[in-house]
Amino acid sequence: MRVLYYSADLDSAAWIPGLQAALPAAHVELWEPGAVAADYAVVWKPPQQLLNEQTQLKALFNTGAGVDALMKLQLPTGVPIVRLDDAGMSVQMAEYVCHAIIRHFRELDGYEADTAQGTWSYRKPRSRLDFPVGVMGLGVLGQRVAQAVAHFDFPVNGWSQSPKSIAGVQCFHGREQWDEFLASSRVLVCLLPLTPDTTDILNARSLSLLRPGGYVINVARGAHVVDADLIAAIDSGHLAGATLDVFRVEPLPPEHAFWTHPKITLTPHTSARTLRSESIAQIAKKIAALENGQPVAGLVEAGRGY
Ligand code: NAP
Ligand code: GLV
Repeated sequence: MRVLYYSADLDSAAWIPGLQAALPAAHVELWEPGAVAADYAVVWKPPQQLLNEQTQLKALFNTGAGVDALMKLQLPTGVPIVRLDDAGMSVQMAEYVCHAIIRHFRELDGYEADTAQGTWSYRKPRSRLDFPVGVMGLGVLGQRVAQAVAHFDFPVNGWSQSPKSIAGVQCFHGREQWDEFLASSRVLVCLLPLTPDTTDILNARSLSLLRPGGYVINVARGAHVVDADLIAAIDSGHLAGATLDVFRVEPLPPEHAFWTHPKITLTPHTSARTLRSESIAQIAKKIAALENGQPVAGLVEAGRGY
């Protein structure tokens, strides 16, 4: 069996020996143009040339949860596309989002500024009942996040494409319940895949439907947010601020207004990293399952784009 690896970002020097150790019977190599036909490819943001040349693939593995970069390419028909299914990401996402919510709700930035000035002062406690959290996307990551937030006794709403029933989460679905979901939420967490349906979904209209004093946490993809509309909603006072981990252009260009906005906290696309050993173990297990004709989780449905 031949396995190819290609990543636009990740460290191939560590991935190739890791994949080789997990798949001792296979020949694992870095993809180069003109490479011999392989059975499986393990990729992140591959060039179209790889897909055009590799005509014998039995499956294509994406070394991330989001497949939006792959979906921009012309994909081979009939080849299963398998994305990372948690692989250590959901706990990272839960800790990042809970941290962002609690930091905002408990006004920890304000306390930090006070103590930096040597000031011992109290802020009025706020009721978590006034901070219902809405999680957009109730998939592998969104469900874990919604349940983690519910542990802190915040009211939690969730929104997905299909109907769901999740303990401790008031579930909404579809465009028909979108406005109601927004109007019921004050803190909004975006964990949707980026598809034509979800691009620009956080815009002037949707942000205006959030409860006053709203707060946006985007940990999905930058193109979910219309940047200028988010800034306008914060500057108008309707929103209290935002924590952003993902951006339309990454790295975020130095001149972008997000960098210096006093009510925006940003991090460099790091809320849930691809963990090499967990991911390799998951991919190796799935290759073994596919070789034995067994089903695997994390199959992308081309028609819906995630
Ligand atoms: P997932 O399991 O595929 O879940 C996607 C969820 O979004 C599902 O609940 C789905 O609804 C819902 N959804 C999709 N399209 C929708 C629409 N048009 N309207 C309403 N709901 C819709 O994905 P995941 O593993 O949780 O990952 C989510 C995203 O997180 C990834 O696509 C990626 O972009 C992002 N991510 C970011 C980082 C980071 O470091 N910032 C790391 C990993 C992933 P159904 O359940 O009804 O299908
Ligand atoms: C990271 O953003 C991922 O999609 O895994």
